Amino acid sequence: MKREDFPILANKSIIYLDNAATTLKPQCVIDAMNEYYQYYTANIHRGLYDSSILSDYLYESTRFVVRDFIHCSSAKEVIFTSGTTYSINLMVFGFMRDYLQAGDEVLLSKAEHASNILPWIRLAEEIGIVLKYIPLDIDYSVTYENVLSSITAKTRVVSLAHVTNVIGDVRNIRKIGQYCRQSNILFHVDGAQSVPHLPIDFVHDNIDFLSFSAHKMCGPTGVGVLVARESLLKKMKPTFYGGGMNESFQSDGDYHLKEIPTRFEAGTPPIVEVIGLRSAILYLQQIGLDKIHKYEIYLKRYLVSLLQDIPFISIYNANSDTGILIFNVEGVSSMDVSKYLNTYHICVRSGNHCSKMLKEDLKVLSTVRVSLYFYNTIQEIDFLVSVLKKCQNVFKIVES
Ligand code: ALA
Repeated sequence: MKREDFPILANKSIIYLDNAATTLKPQCVIDAMNEYYQYYTANIHRGLYDSSILSDYLYESTRFVVRDFIHCSSAKEVIFTSGTTYSINLMVFGFMRDYLQAGDEVLLSKAEHASNILPWIRLAEEIGIVLKYIPLDIDYSVTYENVLSSITAKTRVVSLAHVTNVIGDVRNIRKIGQYCRQSNILFHVDGAQSVPHLPIDFVHDNIDFLSFSAHKMCGPTGVGVLVARESLLKKMKPTFYGGGMNESFQSDGDYHLKEIPTRFEAGTPPIVEVIGLRSAILYLQQIGLDKIHKYEIYLKRYLVSLLQDIPFISIYNANSDTGILIFNVEGVSSMDVSKYLNTYHICVRSGNHCSKMLKEDLKVLSTVRVSLYFYNTIQEIDFLVSVLKKCQNVFKIVES
């Protein structure tokens, strides 16, 4: 599906299976960014000349493209950040720091990425909120029932990935969001691993805050998004101050900020990256998120069916309905497996994948992770499996 759109894949020797880390970039995204550099480079919000007006238009209208992509109510709810990590930090330190009090509970899971745990740990140190972890199910997923049984009268926030970057389970965010909304609990969804792969509906899923990154969805690095309900954004404070976000300031210390969302984007923003994000979203919409999701599940199930027949391979998340699969080769470290695969130009990730609490449930320190996207193929999976089948012998030979 659409492999010809990715110039890097013209290099036939690469089998890229590390899409949860970052995705490849299609020609249209590269072209959109190059055009800015080649034909109309200018800063935004400042110039009254043609190239600045064009840059301004492309930057600002991308908020509408994002709105239509994730189905929030207004383009004013879309803030451009440097990525998911910054989006979550902005929410935690710009909003939650004032909203929460000592003793309030924030519900997370031990399968979350560092970016959805460490800002909360820091806030807990600072103001005494209590972090609670939803127990993982037998297959390491987070079930709706487990979310409900973890909620107490003190729960003020639930902050969960829609899809985690290691287990890849799809959380039932619509039901969780509905319960949270009815119970006056704020719901943050880390969409880094879901927004690129499956449809999401900010309004119908009852989301209060949503964060995601462009580079995991065919876009460039250095740009991400925080979407938040307008009424919440009006209460959020910027975490950075400077040019572009202020209306006025004086020597007596009086200052006024611009309206949302501009007040959260101090300094020259990632203009070309936002233009790249715009192109990436339009590209993904053309393919269709439903189609992408179904195809990834098809590839993943095929991969699982082959790996399950290899006796020296243990799979940890065979049932999760996304393109993420983690496994280990008996007696071989995950790092060695990924280095071995690299000798065949197969790109995978190994280690703890930034989810360092997960080992408490998984009972292993590290795994090999294959993460698929719509441009991967059955042929690539066949090749990966054929190489893995030889893996144990290779390491026996090396050790002897
Ligand atoms: N969060 C990215 C990953 O899972 C970097 O690999």
